[in-house]
Amino acid sequence: MLNQPLNLPCGAVVPNRMCKAAMTEGLAHPNGTASAELERLYGIWSDGGSGILLSGNIQVDGDHLERPGNVIVDSALSDDAFAALQRMAAAGTRNGNHLWAQISHAGRQTQKIVNPAPKAPSAVRLRLPQSQFGEPVALTTEEIQSIVERFVGCAVTCKEAGFTGVQFHSAHGYLLSQFLSPLTNQREDEWGGTLENRARALIAIVTQAREALGTNFPISVKLNSADFQKGGFDFDDSLTVAKWLADAGVDLLEISGGTYEQPRLLNLDGVEPIEEQSLARSTLAREAYFVDFAKAMREKLSIPIMVTGGLRRKEVMNHVLETGGADMIGLGRPLCVDADGPNRLLNGEDELARYEDNLSLLPSWLMWLTRFNAVRTINSFATQFWFYEQIASIGRTGATDPTLTVFSATMAQQKAASAWMTARKGR
Ligand SMILES: Cc1cc2nc3c(=O)[nH]c(=O)nc-3n(C[C@H](O)[C@H](O)[C@H](O)COP(=O)(O)O)c2cc1C
Repeated sequence: MLNQPLNLPCGAVVPNRMCKAAMTEGLAHPNGTASAELERLYGIWSDGGSGILLSGNIQVDGDHLERPGNVIVDSALSDDAFAALQRMAAAGTRNGNHLWAQISHAGRQTQKIVNPAPKAPSAVRLRLPQSQFGEPVALTTEEIQSIVERFVGCAVTCKEAGFTGVQFHSAHGYLLSQFLSPLTNQREDEWGGTLENRARALIAIVTQAREALGTNFPISVKLNSADFQKGGFDFDDSLTVAKWLADAGVDLLEISGGTYEQPRLLNLDGVEPIEEQSLARSTLAREAYFVDFAKAMREKLSIPIMVTGGLRRKEVMNHVLETGGADMIGLGRPLCVDADGPNRLLNGEDELARYEDNLSLLPSWLMWLTRFNAVRTINSFATQFWFYEQIASIGRTGATDPTLTVFSATMAQQKAASAWMTARKGR
């Protein structure tokens, strides 16, 4: 049941089975420092009743942001920036819930305005219409080793600042997920080729982080069940990596899926038709996108599993928990507007709102254009701006605006992103 505590292998206890999934906030100062807006946002989310709050992805390298506005935690963190991180952590844990830092590096999915030549496992460009992404450059071995150190260093700093756990982001096509996929990792050295080599960076990060953080500190990994692309990282690969992660001491494995090219994490269409991989999709999986994968993984692993994507009805969440589908339920988009969603479910409401069902950049009379791949992809991406804007609004004022149009949200977010980058470059 949703209200039951969860004991993690490291000994930490999570007060209930709901986790606010990681959602990028875009609210840091242009130098990457946490802001008062982030403090307000995480305080409000803490009041909302989640057992765990996952932060939006905190970046280990300011040249490889997931987007303008990310928090950056690197070895150059100033005392003021550390104090700001402490304030964010204190606000986000003020109800005795957990707050875990999601730690990431965007690799080739770094936007061009941030870096026109981002580093990646191999020089394989994203296949997206009107790409806002640059031309990737393959990392050297020394650079890979330094990235491993950055992930571990960031985790240690977040622990010192008061975060109660960390999650390494190895899903959704970001750097660690690029390493895992044979489509984006075409290296011929010890970091590419076999699955063991492709997982080397991730496993090194988890192993070294466990050593640095101690045995009783929660470590999580967000892993794709699959990339849903022909020749990519598939479910059998994911299962093998999951076993290695369990052996390396991971406390909670979050199952998601997809990349920017194939955004299955949001159940959106990508650049090529989706091939269902390895598992037939059940009716349940149409609401909870990755639950069949999580269940199959849970049968083979002894560590707790969290499933995120599409879960809205309490009945379905409890069913997933009670039938061995997962140990934790990740909740994303509903909590961008209804920050108190978990408390609502605990206090008797049956479901969370599906805002995503009614969002489109295109007016209804132009929806026929979505039969074209490129238009559909752009339309799908634009709906994300609406959620970004709601999150920003909680941070700025404590309130949201569900009547906002996708068009206005897109304009506001584009403007904010370019102002942030201008301020960052002008520092
Ligand atoms: C606004 C927004 C920002 C997101 N940012 C992140 C992120 O920083 N890290 C991450 O792992 N996933 C991110 N995601 C994906 C969510 O964590 C989650 O996997 C996805 O929204 C599916 O869950 P849902 O159907 O409950 O929304 C984001 C999703 C949204 C809507």
